[in-house]
Amino acid sequence: MANAQHGDRAAWFQGGCAQCSGTGAAPLRAWRMLLLGAPGIGKGTQAEYISAYTGACHLSTGDVFRFAKNSGGCLTPSMQSALEFMKRGELVPDSVVIDMVRERVRCIACGHGFLLDGFPRTVEQAIALDALLTEAGVQLDAVLSFDLDEEKVIARLSGRRTCPTCKRTYHITGNPPKVAGICDHDGAALIQREDDRPEAIAVRLRAYHKQTAPLIDYYAAKGLLHSINADGNPEAVFGRAREVLGSLVPVG
Ligand code: AP5
Repeated sequence: MANAQHGDRAAWFQGGCAQCSGTGAAPLRAWRMLLLGAPGIGKGTQAEYISAYTGACHLSTGDVFRFAKNSGGCLTPSMQSALEFMKRGELVPDSVVIDMVRERVRCIACGHGFLLDGFPRTVEQAIALDALLTEAGVQLDAVLSFDLDEEKVIARLSGRRTCPTCKRTYHITGNPPKVAGICDHDGAALIQREDDRPEAIAVRLRAYHKQTAPLIDYYAAKGLLHSINADGNPEAVFGRAREVLGSLVPVG
């Protein structure tokens, strides 16, 4: 979704030499953060709030894959294979994801800061990100790690509906649109993501526990981890995230 602070995020979605348009002035303080947590816990939802609050660009690797799929252009063989992994709920191979983020290192170095959502997802990706941060000459301020019981996570994923146009997400009961099935923002008919089918959800949760959960220890050891209870409505969860942000000393 475009946002007043960082325009259309074309550099992230398209890579290459695409330039973001509609970007306002860089904020006085650029926040550089990661969002960690199980699939469906509400990272994308919180990213909208945190992004509006800090001005940091919301950079989701899942959104890049979905953008490529829906853009109608010719897909490279590695992107075609990535979309097959994604449909099944499996993680895309590290080499593909790392190359994709490396091509977008401008977004890591950007003066607006960033809120990485869904990357890194393995220790190998975290090591690659460390190298990209060094290359870009920036440091992480924080890793926000969201926690919630698995049955509530599954309920969030099963009830999610997404706007195919602006990518806003809703939940049929927890965060419904004003008119059922219709995006509040642009009136498009909402859809259910392919990987929100029950069999793909089970695969995604297994991948999270095996491959992504070790990042909690990885970032705790660096002193960057902040755990946030993700129970309650989106505003309540954001209130907790805002408290964490308020307690942080700028890295510079
Ligand atoms: P990605 O798009 O990153 O998906 P994900 O991590 O599985 O996360 P989701 O987008 O499904 O959930 P979310 O936590 O953002 O929750 P949301 O805010 O939407 O990745 C998709 C796939 O791409 C991966 O499976 C993999 O194949 C591939 N991929 C991407 N990055 C990769 C990487 N780095 N390495 C390898 N593969 C990669 O919320 C969910 C629902 O809950 C919504 O309906 C929402 O309205 C509702 N909700 C949110 N908060 C609340 C609340 N507080 N109360 C009630 N309802 C709520």
